[in-house]
Amino acid sequence: PFVVTENCIKCKYTDCVEVCPVDCFHEGPNFLVIDPDECIDCTLCEPECPVNAIYPEDDVPAGQEAFVALNAELAQAWPVITTRKDALADAKEWEGKPGKLDLLER
Ligand code: SF4
Ligand code: F3S
Repeated sequence: PFVVTENCIKCKYTDCVEVCPVDCFHEGPNFLVIDPDECIDCTLCEPECPVNAIYPEDDVPAGQEAFVALNAELAQAWPVITTRKDALADAKEWEGKPGKLDLLER
């Protein structure tokens, strides 16, 4: 499956959700995750993310391996999102900043 990684935190652009043919994105307060049990590896979402937050599970950036389990866990807790919405208000400021995992809201 594909995995949403750190760059999404505090940005949440949501361009990714509209292209998913199996509705596997789930939304939290400042992050989205992919349900690994639903993802069919179609690859459509990966190029949609303006901050390149989406990777195949086997290719997540070094140091971000924890996001694989985090996507699986939070997909069980958060509701499905299928329609694009406005990004978080200060998304631009947070683009590409390191260390955002500590800022993840559940
Ligand atoms: Fe959905 Fe395809 Fe992305 Fe998986 S790879 S989350 S099925 S759009
Ligand atoms: Fe996040 Fe990128 Fe989707 S910022 S909400 S993974 S478009």
